[in-house]
Amino acid sequence: MATETRATTPSRTVTPTTESLPGALALLGGLNHVARALVPFNPGGTSLAQVVLGTKRILRPDGTAILIRGANGEYLFKTVDGAFAEWNRYYLSGSAAELLDKLLERDTVVLFRRGQRSPWAREFLFGDGMGWGAAAPIKPHGEMVGVLLVNHATPLPFRPEHVAALQNLATLAGVAEREDSHRAHLEDLFMGVIVSLTMALEAKDPYTEGHSARVAAYSEAIGKQLGLPPEQLDIVHRSCLVHDLGKIAVDGNILGKEEGLSRREREKMDLHPVIGEDLLRPITLLRPLLPGVRSHHEHFDGTGYPDGLAGEAIPIEARIMAVSDAFDAMTSNRPYRHALPEEDALAELRRNAGTHFDPRIVAAFEQIYPAVKRTLEHLRPRS
Ligand SMILES: [Fe+2]
Repeated sequence: MATETRATTPSRTVTPTTESLPGALALLGGLNHVARALVPFNPGGTSLAQVVLGTKRILRPDGTAILIRGANGEYLFKTVDGAFAEWNRYYLSGSAAELLDKLLERDTVVLFRRGQRSPWAREFLFGDGMGWGAAAPIKPHGEMVGVLLVNHATPLPFRPEHVAALQNLATLAGVAEREDSHRAHLEDLFMGVIVSLTMALEAKDPYTEGHSARVAAYSEAIGKQLGLPPEQLDIVHRSCLVHDLGKIAVDGNILGKEEGLSRREREKMDLHPVIGEDLLRPITLLRPLLPGVRSHHEHFDGTGYPDGLAGEAIPIEARIMAVSDAFDAMTSNRPYRHALPEEDALAELRRNAGTHFDPRIVAAFEQIYPAVKRTLEHLRPRS
C-alpha cells in the first residue's frame, strides 16, 4: 500500500462525456442494481469497487473516487476511476484533510464549479481539465467514514434527483466499506486457522519447520522483482503459506521418508496438491489461493503433476512457488541427506531453468536471494 501524500495535481487528458443524465426511474433502477451487488463474497472485486462502477454507470462522470477517513484523520483514495485514476492509494493529510473535514461537516452533497473560491476543489477536483465536481459525505449512522467524489469536464446538469442519487450512492459506499472490512476480517480469520494447521504439521517435523514461511518470503520477493501488483503479491504470499496443507492427509511415515518411497507411497504423496485444493475449496474467500496450491508441483516443460501443465499455462504463483520451494528444500537438512550449500542449490536451479523451472523466475530468485536470506536467518531451525 502506498503511503505518499500528494500535493500536486496529476495531469492527463480525459475525453469528456456528453450524454444527458438519466431520469428518476432509471436512477432508481441503477441504485437497486448497485445495492444488489454489495455482497461480501463478490467475485467481481470489492463492494466499494461495485459502488464506483455503479456511480459511473448511473451519473456518467469523468472521474469517481471513494476516499476513506482513517483513525489518524488522513483520507485514503481507496477506490478510483477515470479522471481520479492517478490518485489511486494516495493519502490526503494535513490541511487538505482538514479542509475536507470542514466541507463534510455540512452533511450534504456539495457541488463545485471551476472559478468558485474553493482551494480544496481547485486542487483535488479540477485537475485534468475538469470543470465541475461534487462531494457526497459517506456517513452511515452519523459517523464520518469518508467521501464520494465525482468530477466532469463540463458542468453536469444535476437536478435534485441526481443530487439525491449521489447521496444514496454515498450511503451505499458506507455499507460497502463495512462489507469489505467484514470480508477482510473473515479472510484473516480463515487464513489464521489454515496457517496454524500447516504450521502444526511442519512443527511435528524438525526438518520442515518454518518451510512454508520461508517459501512465502522468497516468493513474495520474487513477485515484487517481477513487478506483480500488490493484490497478486498478497495471493502469492498466502498461497505459499498454505501450499502443503494437503500433506495433512498423508501418512506421517511417508512424509518422514520423502526419498526411497515405494510407487504406492509416492502416489499418495503426490496427491497433496489436489487434497490441499479440496480442503480449501469450501472457503469461498480463499478461492484465489487454489491455483497456486494445486499447481505448485507442475514443471515448466510439462512433466510435473497433477495436470502436466507447461509454460505460462502454469499459474504464475505456482511457477514462483516451485522455485522457492525447491530452493528451500535443497538448503534444508532432511533425514536422508544434509542441506546443500547455497551455491550448489542456486546452480541446481540454473541447471533446471527451462525444464523444471520458469527461467525468468530463476533469474528473479538470484536477484532477490541475498537480501531475503539476511531477513530469513531467524526462521531456519537450528541443525
Ligand atoms: Fe508440495
